[in-house]
Amino acid sequence: MEIFPLNKVVRLIEPGPVVMVSTLQQGHANLMTMGFHMMMQHDPPLIGAIVGPWDHSYHALRANKECVIAIPGVDLIDKVVDIGNCSGNEVDKFARFGFTPRKAKHVAPPLVVECLANIECRVADMQLVDQYDFFILEAVQAWINPHRKEQRTFHHKGDGTFSVSGRTLNRQDRMVRWKQFQD
Ligand SMILES: Cc1cc2nc3c(=O)[nH]c(=O)nc-3n(C[C@H](O)[C@H](O)[C@H](O)COP(=O)(O)O)c2cc1C
Repeated sequence: MEIFPLNKVVRLIEPGPVVMVSTLQQGHANLMTMGFHMMMQHDPPLIGAIVGPWDHSYHALRANKECVIAIPGVDLIDKVVDIGNCSGNEVDKFARFGFTPRKAKHVAPPLVVECLANIECRVADMQLVDQYDFFILEAVQAWINPHRKEQRTFHHKGDGTFSVSGRTLNRQDRMVRWKQFQD
């Protein structure tokens, strides 16, 4: 894994990939699948994440206030969907689904070696958690695996169907007010 600049984390999150959230509670590392997330601020990078109280991960995140957002390639789609259909209360998901945990630099929950990118996050604000299950996370370290063969992400359409990231359309020449985000 290679370090990815924090002020470019927007490029990983703004496209809206399905991600996994890695948490750690009482020595037990867990994964959940998440589609409801959004970039909120470039620098320092803030990411909004909906993690509901029906999730084991919710309680881990509330208690320990740290997580890793791991971005899987489309080759991992079946495992990632299954991870979103079982509970860390009952299953050791790293073991069951064959994902390799790796020690993160700044947070306790582990990185997921098989993913395209990993973003270490701390909970920055819990004001909207009680009403909306909305955690505001600050990214404190990001990693990518540029050598991974499959680099395409996948995106939930809201009904159990998914699209795959595809052709990039470059309109940087029209982004006249936003040049600072192109380097
Ligand atoms: C494609 C997909 C997207 C999901 N998105 C979210 C989400 O944004 N927020 C959420 O709380 N649960 C979401 N879920 C459901 C959780 O992943 C699911 O409840 C999971 O079993 C929680 O695991 P845990 O109990 O081990 O934390 C999603 C599931 C799938 C399959």
